Amino acid sequence: MTLLALPGLIDAHVHLREPGGEHKEDIASGTAAALAGGITGVLDMPNNVPPVTDGQQLERKRRLFGERACCDYGLFLGAGEQALPRPEDAAEAVGLKLYLTPTFGPLRLESLGALLAIFKGWPAARPIAVHAEGMSMAIPILLAQLMGKRVHLCHVARADEIALVRAAKERGVAVTCEVAPHHLYLTREDARALGALAQMKPPLAGAEDVDALWRNLGVVDLVASDHAPHTLTEKQSAEPPPGVPGVETMLPLLVTSVHEGRLSADRLVGLLHEGPQRVYGVRAPEATVEIEVGGHLEIRAANLHTRCGWTPFEGRRVNARVRRVVLRGRTVFEDGHVLGRPGSGCQLRSA
Ligand code: DOR
Ligand code: ZN
Ligand code: ZN
Repeated sequence: MTLLALPGLIDAHVHLREPGGEHKEDIASGTAAALAGGITGVLDMPNNVPPVTDGQQLERKRRLFGERACCDYGLFLGAGEQALPRPEDAAEAVGLKLYLTPTFGPLRLESLGALLAIFKGWPAARPIAVHAEGMSMAIPILLAQLMGKRVHLCHVARADEIALVRAAKERGVAVTCEVAPHHLYLTREDARALGALAQMKPPLAGAEDVDALWRNLGVVDLVASDHAPHTLTEKQSAEPPPGVPGVETMLPLLVTSVHEGRLSADRLVGLLHEGPQRVYGVRAPEATVEIEVGGHLEIRAANLHTRCGWTPFEGRRVNARVRRVVLRGRTVFEDGHVLGRPGSGCQLRSA
C-alpha cells in the first residue's frame, strides 16, 4: 500500500440542498460528506427552494454556510426568465449559473432575449457556468465569443459535446469545461440495471461517449461531482427527480484510475486543485489530503456521510481510501471520522 498526498481539492459543482431541501442533504451533512471524500472546498449551485437569484438570497445562504459548513465553500448566483441577475451581486458569487435545458428545480432560461440581457449585464471577469445538453451547448459557446464573456460548460457528457468544446478551444474561444465522474465511470447500460438511481441530467451515455471523454481529458479543465442527492423514496417514486450523489465517491474513483495507470497523479491535481482555482478565480486554502492507495475496497452507501443514503456506485471496487484530511493545520477527517465542525469552513476567496 502507498500513501498519496494531495493539496486542497475543490468540487466545483455540488447541490447541498439548503435552504429548502434539507430532507435530501443539508450544509452540515453535505460538507461532512465532502471532507470524507477528500474534498476541502465545494462550489454550491443556486437551484434551492427558493432559488438563489438575488443578492438577498445569496447573503442568506452565505450566512447559513458560515454557520454550518465543515469545509470551505463558494456560492453561485442563478438566473431565471423573471429573475435577471444584477451585476452588483456578482462580487459575492463565485459565478453565475444558467440552465438552458430542463432539469431539477424551476430555474430555466427559454428566451434568447433573456439570455442576451444576462450575458450583456454580467461582468466579463466572472464565469458564467451553463447547464446545456447536446445542441444547446453551441449557444453559450457562440455568446462567449460574440460578447467576450467567460463561459464554463458544466458536465460535458457526450462525444459530440466534447468535440465541440475542443473545436472552440482550438479557435481560441474563452470557454472551459468540466466532466462528472458518473459520466466517466457509468454508461446507459448501467442505467438499465440501476433504473432511477442512475438517472440524472445530462443522462448517462454510451460506451463510445465515455471513451471520448477519457480520450479528450486534455481539454477538460476540471472534474466535478454534480453531487445532486435525492431521497430513495423520491428516486423510487413514479416521477423520480434527476440527480445522483457523488462528492464522496469522486476522489476514490479517480485515484483508482491513477492506480490503474489511466490518469497521472499530476493530472488529477490539475483537475481537482488547479482547474477549479483557475476557472473560478478562487484560492484553495492550505490543506493536505492523504489517500491510501492499493487496497481492495468496495463503495458502500452504508459507509458514506451523505444524508440521502445511497450511491449509484454501490458495490464498485476501488483501490483508494481517504485516510486523513488536514485543513488549515487542523485534522478535519481521519479514518472514517469527520472531525471538522459545522461553522469551521471558510468562504473561498478570489485569488
Ligand atoms: O441531474 C441533475 N440534478 N442535473 C441537474 O442539473 C440538477 C441536479 C439537481 O439539482 O438535482
Ligand atoms: Zn446541471
Ligand atoms: Zn448540477
